[in-house]
Amino acid sequence: MIRTNLRSKSKVMKTYDKESLVYYSKRFASQGGRHIDLTEKRLLARYVGGPSLLEVGTASGRFVGFVERMGWDYTGIDISAQMLRLSKSNGCKLVQGDGEEIPLRSSIFNMVFCLHTFHFIPEPLRCVEESHRVLKEGGFLFLIFETDNWLRRLSLKTGLFESDQWYFTLGEVAAMMRNCGLTPVASGPVLKFPMAFYRRLPFTKLFKQLDASRNWPGWLATLGFVIGRKEGKLEAGASHDEQVQ
Ligand SMILES: C[S@@+](CC[C@H](N)C(=O)[O-])C[C@H]1O[C@@H](n2cnc3c(N)ncnc32)[C@H](O)[C@@H]1O
Repeated sequence: MIRTNLRSKSKVMKTYDKESLVYYSKRFASQGGRHIDLTEKRLLARYVGGPSLLEVGTASGRFVGFVERMGWDYTGIDISAQMLRLSKSNGCKLVQGDGEEIPLRSSIFNMVFCLHTFHFIPEPLRCVEESHRVLKEGGFLFLIFETDNWLRRLSLKTGLFESDQWYFTLGEVAAMMRNCGLTPVASGPVLKFPMAFYRRLPFTKLFKQLDASRNWPGWLATLGFVIGRKEGKLEAGASHDEQVQ
């Protein structure tokens, strides 16, 4: 686990307030950015289940349409008021709140998902505990986060990249889930290269081939996911085991 210059929540809030209008275009408008968006939506389509979903760190509401097209009910929380304002104009149900202290009742969601946000939360274990609390029995927590590996450590040591967040191994996140009463049911790599490469470099044929390569070692991935299941019996209409193998 690496922790680098972690920002306070108020600083994170201010940064995203300031960034809200350009958040989506800066990250997902380029060809490589669209590839990230699509890769994550494909992963969600494979594993996510309804009918009732909560996203922690909803930002501009990138997943609202996706969840609603599946016929499910989307709720989002975010600490940034400006991000919430933007998402509200996209018509989703939103609450201003902190992933360490989810301002919602217990046992009401079939799935909690948190993408690109978990690694900014100062006490990530609190977020896992809170997600467990708001999940119904048999519900799932789906986390996508930046990973810790030796290449990452090397690049941080060179000082080439500035960083202000956590990086986790898949095993560490799985252990956090177990600590909080969730059983890890699936995990793996999401992206092979740093996000900035996809956003800023031309998404050439060679880049696409490397990205699609099956021989790239999973432990070098820059972004990973872990899914955990809360103990108990699933209710009808929720995700089921076949979806998370
Ligand atoms: C990088 S964006 C990710 C947004 C979205 N999940 C996506 O993948 O497009 C991170 C978002 O998490 C929010 N955030 C950061 N820390 C948070 C916290 N402790 N609780 C709730 N939201 C948080 C930020 O305000 C920002 O909107």
